[in-house]
Amino acid sequence: MKLIIALIQPEKLPDVKQALFNAAVHKMTVTNVVGCGQQKGFTETYRGVVTEVNLLKKVRLDIAVNDDFVKPTIKAIMNGARTGRIGDGKIFVLPLEECYRIRTGETNSAAIG
Ligand SMILES: Nc1ncnc2c1ncn2[C@@H]1O[C@H](COP(=O)(O)OP(=O)(O)OP(=O)(O)O)[C@@H](O)[C@H]1O
Ligand SMILES: [Mg+2]
Repeated sequence: MKLIIALIQPEKLPDVKQALFNAAVHKMTVTNVVGCGQQKGFTETYRGVVTEVNLLKKVRLDIAVNDDFVKPTIKAIMNGARTGRIGDGKIFVLPLEECYRIRTGETNSAAIG
């Protein structure tokens, strides 16, 4: 099992959702976040207040998948989110140790799928 965390441009969320749906990935958590990549966040002082000016709005997807869904999920996110411009986003893939469906008590693969 893996936990796939993707940071994407907010306006690409509909395309990514459609691509994930086409890949039979229907479960996800979506969060509005701010962040910066290699163009670097920086701070400036405005009237004595340090302000972060380079943290841009992004959408974060958290998707837990069984191993056979890892590659299709990554491919769908890439296809849906890529414009070829800087800031298109990042995908992180983490090992996922356990998963429980609270209602049924199912665990791991059965609980994710
Ligand atoms: N190393 C990182 N650790 C944590 N979050 C990151 C990292 N790199 C990128 N992010 C997150 O992903 C978002 C999108 O990153 P972004 O696409 O700008 O990556 P990049 O490495 O700067 O690539 P590009 O040059 O294509 O812009 C960032 O706003 C930030 O939220
Ligand atoms: Mg960047």
